This record gives sequence, C-alpha cells and structure tokens, in this order.
Amino acid sequence: MSVDSENDLEGLKAAGRVVALAIHAMREAVREGITTAELDAIAAGVLREHGARSAPQLAYDFPGTACISVNEEAVHGIPGARVLRGGDLVTLDVTVELNGYYADAAVTVGVGSISDEARRLVECAEAAFWHAARAARAGERLAVVGGRVEAEVERRGFKVFHDLCGHGIGRTIHESPSVCNFYDPRERARLTEGMVIALEPIVSVGARHTRAAADGWTLASADGSLTAHFEHTIVITRGQPLVLTAA
Ligand code: CO
Repeated sequence: MSVDSENDLEGLKAAGRVVALAIHAMREAVREGITTAELDAIAAGVLREHGARSAPQLAYDFPGTACISVNEEAVHGIPGARVLRGGDLVTLDVTVELNGYYADAAVTVGVGSISDEARRLVECAEAAFWHAARAARAGERLAVVGGRVEAEVERRGFKVFHDLCGHGIGRTIHESPSVCNFYDPRERARLTEGMVIALEPIVSVGARHTRAAADGWTLASADGSLTAHFEHTIVITRGQPLVLTAA
C-alpha cells in the first residue's frame, strides 16, 4: 500500500509495534530446551493482548502464529515439538493484522553459544538489510535496493536466496511489488513516497535456492546449510525510510 493519510500511518505504526513486541518477547525466551511451540505461544499471547491477529494464519491458514525456522530452514517453519539446542539458529518471523493494517518483521537468534560462522551469518543478514535500507528512498530503482542486499551478502562471503523475496504490505500480508534481494535488470519499478514494503534479506552459508520440506510449508536451503533472516516493514520517504517494526 501507499500511505496517504495520518490514519494510515498511525494504523501501520500500531501494527508494527505489536510485531516488535511479539518478536522481543519471543527473543527473550529463546534458550536451550524450549520448544518452538512454546515460543509461538508467547507470540500468540502478545497478539491477543493487543487485539491483533496472525496474518499468515488469516491469509493462508498457517498452522501457527509465528513462522519459526531452525538452522537450514529458511522460512515458513511450523512451530511444534522441536526442542531448541545450544548452537541452533532460530528465526522468529511475525506478521500481524491490526485494525486492517499489516506489518511484518523477522530476526534470527542464536541459541546458547553458536559457532563463529553462525554469528557472522546472523550479522550478515542484518547488515545487508541496513545497507539496502539506506538506499531505499523515493525515486530509487527497486532493482538497486536488491542489488545492495546481494552485494553486501557476497562481500561477507555468504549467499542470498534468489527464490525468496520481500514484498509490498499494508492492507494485506503480501502486496506488490516483489522486493528481490538481488539486482534484477528487468525490474524497472521505482520506489515512491509513502510506499510500504517488507525488506528481508534471507541468507545462507552456501545456497541461493530453497527446497520444500515434506510438511508442505517449510522452505530450507537446498544444500542444507545454515540460514539467517532479517526483516522490517518500512515506509519509503524522500530521505531515510521509516522503520515500523523496530522495538
Ligand atoms: Co515478509
């Protein structure tokens, strides 16, 4: 969507705040021995408390409140009985609907002590987000933003998934445009003032593509290597973007 009133902005900010609170609460609870279902219940509690609903549940009947993906799982992991172990990377991805407005964010968190490579991978996803976000202003080409994601990821020695993209958001969970994490020369669109997008570098140690798991939801790195994800919903301005889902 494009923000065209103060009402829109307030509605989006309120949805974004619930996303930030849910992710914060889950993140605080991440530890060895907790199950992904227990983390999901924490997110569900935060949403309920604020009268918000899980957008993937609403739109796609996703079997959980949050998408929780572990290690090689890149996106759309289903919360369940899986117990987190020291050294795991767990991605917490929350999209909510509140009063007709949608916001989406994700972060990858290490469980206990993690390997050096895992730590660098997590840092890479976040750094790529900010490197691209700094260029995401009205008038810039969407392809340039994607190019900056991949450039930063490759500079750090990792790969970005080419089959997973960010997206427009605001009035529903997935809107146009598609916000790819690489330079697509065929993409001619430009960012416009007020445009609301979810920018989300999803990176891995070795794979640029995913494979579908047998559960019908989870997409994992094709080579089984570790993955990390960093996402915020942002509003495009003539200067730096407004981040709606930061705590
Ligand atoms: Co998203």
